[in-house]
Amino acid sequence: MIRPVVAVTRKLPAPVEARMNELFDARFNADDHAMTADQIITACHGADVLAPTVTDTIDAGVIESLPPGLCLIANFGVGVNHIDLAAAAARGIGVTNTPDVLTDDTADLAMALLLSAARRVVEGDRLARGGKWGGWNPTFMVGHRVSGKRLGIIGMGRIGQAVARRANGFGMDIHYHNRSRLAPGIEGELQASWCEDLDEMLATMDLISGNCPQTPDTLHLLNATRLDLIQPHAIIVNTARGGIIDEAALAERLADRRIAAAGLDVYEFEPAIHSTLLTLENVVLAPHLGSATHEGRIAMGEKVVQNILAHSKGEALPDRV
Ligand code: DGY
Repeated sequence: MIRPVVAVTRKLPAPVEARMNELFDARFNADDHAMTADQIITACHGADVLAPTVTDTIDAGVIESLPPGLCLIANFGVGVNHIDLAAAAARGIGVTNTPDVLTDDTADLAMALLLSAARRVVEGDRLARGGKWGGWNPTFMVGHRVSGKRLGIIGMGRIGQAVARRANGFGMDIHYHNRSRLAPGIEGELQASWCEDLDEMLATMDLISGNCPQTPDTLHLLNATRLDLIQPHAIIVNTARGGIIDEAALAERLADRRIAAAGLDVYEFEPAIHSTLLTLENVVLAPHLGSATHEGRIAMGEKVVQNILAHSKGEALPDRV
């Protein structure tokens, strides 16, 4: 079998790079710089496969400029909002991603952010490190209980469902908004109620978790008008993509305490974070860590490998988007 030539845009975990070296003529990004469009196109000269990540913008312009031999974009990551799928399809380039293997890690992080924001963990850590803790007292750093609270999950795919399973363990009352209703068996297992109307759900939740992909339809799904429906004591968590929330509008409402708190892992203009968010005590900020476990990242790499292998053998792509 001919070894495919694979252009990899970012440094990958060592075991993944070793495996790619074994199987492919892989070209790595040794110093791990974020590549410009021109650098991506140059890296793809003579390549059969491009393996990008969420930090690469693979828009129609890049896709049009890819060399004719490039026939697969094997994304290292599940979200593909940074790839113009229509442009890829128009050029006959297949696109794959890495579903399933980061579901639990991302749901764990959503719970970590939810609990941290509700119980003021990071704020407390800052205070303790700052030498400002004068000892326990009954009114000190009181947060909110999560058990018994109404959690609204936006997007009930794999990760939304994994959040629901965890939230059940914490005794939350689970509601979800999704384009289509889950099968009754799954709804029953998750003890989750479907809300067809997102606005109605937002207005009645104590806790809200964003878990839908970013597409043209979900860009600014939580815009200023929708954010104004949310109750002032509510907490928002987002581990999906920053663009599903109007970040400036969210920052303004968190600063005014029109929304109580937030736990964010993703941002509209990553790696930039809205300057107001950086100043707020009621916001927990993680730097896009949803899939950042050793196990998850190695499994993501193996998914990329399997998709490239299937493509080079002319087999059906296991994770075609
Ligand atoms: C994903 O897989 O989409 C994560 O957000 C990292 O890219």
